[in-house]
Amino acid sequence: MGRTFLVTGASSGIGEAVARRLAAEPGSRLILVARREDRLRALAEELPAPASWVATDLTEADAPERVAAHVEERGEGLHLLVNNAGASWRGRFGDAGWENVKRTMELNFDAVVRLTEALLPALRASAPSAIVNVASTAGRISRPGAGAYSASKYALIGWSDALHAEERESGVHVGLVMPGFIATEGFPAEELRARFWTRRLVSTPQKAAEAVVDAGLRGRAERYVPRPYGLVAVLRILAPGLVRRVISGGAGGAMTTATRPGE
Ligand SMILES: NC(=O)c1ccc[n+]([C@@H]2O[C@H](COP(=O)([O-])OP(=O)(O)OC[C@H]3O[C@@H](n4cnc5c(N)ncnc54)[C@H](OP(=O)(O)O)[C@@H]3O)[C@@H](O)[C@H]2O)c1
Repeated sequence: MGRTFLVTGASSGIGEAVARRLAAEPGSRLILVARREDRLRALAEELPAPASWVATDLTEADAPERVAAHVEERGEGLHLLVNNAGASWRGRFGDAGWENVKRTMELNFDAVVRLTEALLPALRASAPSAIVNVASTAGRISRPGAGAYSASKYALIGWSDALHAEERESGVHVGLVMPGFIATEGFPAEELRARFWTRRLVSTPQKAAEAVVDAGLRGRAERYVPRPYGLVAVLRILAPGLVRRVISGGAGGAMTTATRPGE
């Protein structure tokens, strides 16, 4: 028997932690996806469960097809798809323009939708199975300089909610994870971690991985991590004026994310 779990963005940060956590599940088999093959190979060799990998840029036209072919070749079905790969390129719209919105949507939204489309038949055939989409608290609240990123995560959340309802009858559970600040390569949160009063706002990839397990294997519809970040979503609805004032005051403040070198 056993179950096959596919994790995108498994070469670092939350995705790597998710792969390590899922590999500890009895009978698990892993498929790791990202661009950096050396990292995927090293992780696959280290995991306590059988693991293979597909090194691909998920924004490439043939990426979904290549990943689906790999799943098919293994012939073990697909029981969990974790759509985690993503990035943020900071920039105010007036400076970074549509180009920045476009590249962010291509990775954080379009690539997720395309990969899910390619893998849905395998997930349905392996049901009960699940999809976890790693969105963000930024998909509930938008800050200056992160409009493109928020747009991609708002879109991902909206699409996931519909898919959750649509796939219920096929036995494919669709869960959402909304991380707040998690210290990773792509989102180092250095300024927050450097200050005593803000250090506690930053959580770990391991905590995010546990939230993915809640949403993927334990049937939760959505999980914030750290959990109190869910209050942000409530406040955004109940006190939009207050939230806007706080956010505008914080423009250019401590809540920065980094652009990965070379991107
Ligand atoms: N950390 C946070 O504070 C935070 C907060 C909210 C949401 N999130 C979300 O959590 C997810 C994981 O982020 P992270 O914090 O773990 O960042 P990370 O350490 O930078 O990991 C991002 C992963 O995505 C992969 N990736 C990036 N572009 C890709 C592409 N074009 N094709 C294939 N894979 C690609 C990267 O691998 P390669 O470079 O090898 O391709 C890497 O494995 C993202 O969706 C992010 O938006 C993070």
